[in-house]
Amino acid sequence: MQDVLTHTADGVMTLTLNRVEKKNSFTQAMYSTCADALLQASTDAAVHVVVIQGHATVFSAGNDIGDFLAKPPKEEDAPVFRFMRGLATFPKPLVAAVCGPAVGIGTTLLFHCDLIYAGDNAAFSMPFVNLGLCAEAGSSLLAPQLLGYHRAAEALLLGEPFMAEAALEVGLVNRIVPPTEANAVAHAQALKLAAKPLPSLVETKRLMKKGQTEQLLAHINEEAQSFGRLLQAPHASEAFTAFMEKRKPDFSKI
Ligand code: COA
Repeated sequence: MQDVLTHTADGVMTLTLNRVEKKNSFTQAMYSTCADALLQASTDAAVHVVVIQGHATVFSAGNDIGDFLAKPPKEEDAPVFRFMRGLATFPKPLVAAVCGPAVGIGTTLLFHCDLIYAGDNAAFSMPFVNLGLCAEAGSSLLAPQLLGYHRAAEALLLGEPFMAEAALEVGLVNRIVPPTEANAVAHAQALKLAAKPLPSLVETKRLMKKGQTEQLLAHINEEAQSFGRLLQAPHASEAFTAFMEKRKPDFSKI
């Protein structure tokens, strides 16, 4: 089975994260598939809308930690960075269905989506600091804008999860639905968008984001440099070793 399923019909391209046994954690190959799909979707006239979805029990556990440590992304065109830039610059509507854990990039990718439907089991978290790392995918810019500074600080500095209700309250998600219905609801909304005039959708999205994209791309680059530097440091090494050994990290001796 492929780890990301891509399906296009009726103007909607659907990307389904399909690595449930590893909680849909992203490998480099999955980033690559998603980045390529977004690139194709951005120019393919048959695609009006892209939906990103997971499983009713899990959206994504973030980076696959083993894969990530084996091949830390360094070059600007590493799949993870291509995916982030693809999200940040995607010209057509992006819809997401999120259920269960949405960790790391599982949450930060949502900041780039236009419509988000969450299962009532959705749990969003950005535990980068707990891993000795820092925010990525533009989240240190977008989280304060979308959640408000203090909620963003709680989420990014403490790394504490927040649930679907809190996400709805701040406007991060459009609607909370039963987990088994989230993908269908997102698809139904995507079909409504797909039936609308594409140039109007593209132009309206461009106008809503006007002036932000360059700053966002620069921010993503700066985060990537900091992330790369922190990844080489002892705190990250302890955090990742602890994850592999299924224990809590101990930063007290560093
Ligand atoms: N990278 C690699 N493997 C991961 C993973 C990740 N980010 N997240 C989960 N997995 C794997 C587990 O190692 C486990 O594999 P195994 O069955 O071979 O032991 C399997 O997926 C199931 O995960 P498990 O932790 O048992 O599921 P859970 O339901 O108890 O918890 C999460 C789900 C998402 C809360 C938990 O897996 C988690 O916190 N994952 C790490 C999240 C993270 O720190 N991501 C990095 C962000 S940058």
